[in-house]
Amino acid sequence: MRSFLTHLECSNCAATYSADQLVTICPACGKVLFARYDLAAAAKAMTPQGLAGRRWNLWRYFELLPVRDLANAITLGEGGTPLLSAPTLGRTFGFDRLLIKDEGQNPTGSFKARGLGVAVSRAKELGAPAVAIPSAGNAAAAMAAYAARAGLPAVVVMPADAPEVMKAECRAYGATVLLVDGLINDAGKLVREGAAVHGWFDVSTLKEPYRAEGKKTMGLELVEQLGWRVPDAIVYPTGGGTGIVGMWKAFAELEEMGLIGPERPKLIVVQAEGCAPIVRAFDAGERHAPLWANSATVAPGMRVPVAIGDYLILDAVRRSGGTALTVSDAELMEGVHLAATREGLYGSPEAGAAVIAAGKLRASGFLRQEDEVVVFSTGAGMKHTDLVAAEYPVLDPAAPAEALTAVGEAAGGEPDARGIAATAAGLQHPGHGRGGDPT
Ligand SMILES: Cc1ncc(COP(=O)(O)O)c(C=O)c1O
Ligand SMILES: [Zn+2]
Repeated sequence: MRSFLTHLECSNCAATYSADQLVTICPACGKVLFARYDLAAAAKAMTPQGLAGRRWNLWRYFELLPVRDLANAITLGEGGTPLLSAPTLGRTFGFDRLLIKDEGQNPTGSFKARGLGVAVSRAKELGAPAVAIPSAGNAAAAMAAYAARAGLPAVVVMPADAPEVMKAECRAYGATVLLVDGLINDAGKLVREGAAVHGWFDVSTLKEPYRAEGKKTMGLELVEQLGWRVPDAIVYPTGGGTGIVGMWKAFAELEEMGLIGPERPKLIVVQAEGCAPIVRAFDAGERHAPLWANSATVAPGMRVPVAIGDYLILDAVRRSGGTALTVSDAELMEGVHLAATREGLYGSPEAGAAVIAAGKLRASGFLRQEDEVVVFSTGAGMKHTDLVAAEYPVLDPAAPAEALTAVGEAAGGEPDARGIAATAAGLQHPGHGRGGDPT
């Protein structure tokens, strides 16, 4: 049960380093380090047939993960999330085959469990005394949980206006919680200072090599779930970009192992209108994305004004033939609503952004009806009840009987019980029959 990890390599200057030391960014150039593996040997050990008998969590790919000894994995059962078909939503948008990867089913309710499960396991294996993270909320909760399980002290630094549930989670796991009057990059400064003074190991997005390895398993899993092939497109809500970067790396490794060919899904980056540095750089043809001033969106995971891995995200999107687009806060909440009411899948605002973006790209013609499209529902909606409660007033128990009759009718034939206009995204809603669905 061993990893085929060989060394670390800088994604920018190609300098190589030993993987058996605690490192963050490239000491030579300050950019992102990647873990490298003996893929030829891993290909012999990790075969589709052999995998079939393994447990359905991300550690099934241990040959391609950095933890040297599988016994050192700190696990809460992360990964192994379902790839759900979304036929009603697919019809709504005009896709024959729309799939949703439900990452909200991970421990701590988001895909962040993958990256932090792996990063905390490896930090512990390498002897880190404590771990620290700047986070919009989900990553902090995930790190706090794995640190608790690893017996490591944890420090999380979050914007003061991060969702209350996530702050509470971190406290419940026993982490030290610091709140900053600012954004995630301001939180990052505090973590860097604390790391220098107190020796905390900084697990900021892409500032150590192993969170991306955990995220990579989304790509590995997706390919395995599809029967060892890639879909036509992946729609992903993007902040710091580890999801996109990790999956892109997964596809390259799978190709080198002979498990897939050179084909790649179009990678589609979704950001919020109020914070879209990657989209702006994509549109401008730039390889780096300068800081986005005055970032504002209700989706905390996408309120990331600057990303150290900007060049990795932009390279992956371009080389995949993908694109980058923005959605408004009203649109992304509409996405939450559509996935919840039509598929029973209550995702986070970031997930809603990906849902609505898929619809927008179908409407614009960028995605075709016959494309197999995978939307990443990166987080659980249950962490964001504050947002949804504001959107959906409860029915007054003393409401007149007509109101209750209306609910029954809505449930029978009209999925959009709120009668909310889905026009924000310019979407058509074919096939809802009764004409109650405004377009
Ligand atoms: C639910 C959710 N979706 C998406 C993201 C963006 O993540 P990435 O770093 O992969 O761009 C975050 C980050 O906080 C998040 O919490
Ligand atoms: Zn370098």
